[in-house]
Amino acid sequence: MAKTPEEIIRDDIRALTAYHVPDSSGMVKLDAMENPYELPPALRTRLAAIIESAALNRYPDPGARRLKARLREAFAVPEGVEVLLGNGSDELIQMLVLASARPGAVVLGVEPSFAMFPMISAFVGVRYVGVELRDDFALDIERTLRAVEEHQPSLIFIAYPNNPTGNLFDAAAIERVVRAAPGLVVMDEAYQAFAGSSFMAQLPRKGNLLVMRTVSKLGLAGLRLGVLAGDARWITELDKLRLPYNVSTLTQMVANEVLQHGAVLTEQAAAIKLERGRLMRKLQEIPGLTPYPSDANFILFSITHAERVFDGLKQRGVLIKSLHGSHRLLANCLRVTVGTPQENDVFLAALIQSLNA
Ligand SMILES: Cc1ncc(COP(=O)(O)O)c(C=O)c1O
Repeated sequence: MAKTPEEIIRDDIRALTAYHVPDSSGMVKLDAMENPYELPPALRTRLAAIIESAALNRYPDPGARRLKARLREAFAVPEGVEVLLGNGSDELIQMLVLASARPGAVVLGVEPSFAMFPMISAFVGVRYVGVELRDDFALDIERTLRAVEEHQPSLIFIAYPNNPTGNLFDAAAIERVVRAAPGLVVMDEAYQAFAGSSFMAQLPRKGNLLVMRTVSKLGLAGLRLGVLAGDARWITELDKLRLPYNVSTLTQMVANEVLQHGAVLTEQAAAIKLERGRLMRKLQEIPGLTPYPSDANFILFSITHAERVFDGLKQRGVLIKSLHGSHRLLANCLRVTVGTPQENDVFLAALIQSLNA
């Protein structure tokens, strides 16, 4: 008789709960740090023509040479630094953890941070150590250095700016972590377009540092494209476990074309940053609500009765993200993505109604 899932699937996998993406149809969607703006009509028409010419019967260019050159330019990857492309940065995180999963290996991150660092470590069966941030969400450098010394992690993930807290950690503190790390330090710069600070230029000087970027938050989340930059010695090894053709023909063509008109995305990011300032000021005016400083395209805030407020927003057609219950430091915290001015106004009105209900 054929075996059951209980007999075949790893116990630790069966114990996991699947990553839940809530249904957002018909809602004002401010839960996933997407860019709310669409591409200009002329560029969309151009993309349609390009897609029409795509040879979809053929496999994609496995090396994605044109796109890599374009990304190097768009992300200012220094000369001599290699790049690896992933089906979103999630896939790059998976490659990194898989490649370093020697018996007894440890992945280290800060807490709270991006959920995929511990989740992917769990998928791969690698021990994950989370080092708690300070109450103000700053990096607790002494605690982090102690954990690095104790656990000797193969990989350290630092989101810069951090998700879900939105802040940039102190760059000098990160440099101390890089110096102390026995293995790789991966700076996940998914929100760099909204921050204006990066470790990319440091890559040639720091052999154990990698910098990860994505086009998702820039306005191309649907494409699924992430970039990992670093010393060729690391990238060559990681590339061995990249599945062939992991970046589709359509992704390569569309990303290449849109990045050629990169100013469109930069201007949208500038508009989002401006709106972030306005949204922040509006949130600061609401009694009982504390918004936290943000260098990203979202704002974390704490509010009394967060769950009730979250449900109230949902009932009014606005979907944001509740982090209440996910970590001690995130009690009563909600996270809102910066949308268009109109979307943000709908959110603010629904928020005030939910508070007064
Ligand atoms: C810090 C961080 N890194 C990576 C990602 C995922 O990026 P991608 O869409 O490229 O997989 C996210 C998504 O929310 C994120 O917050």
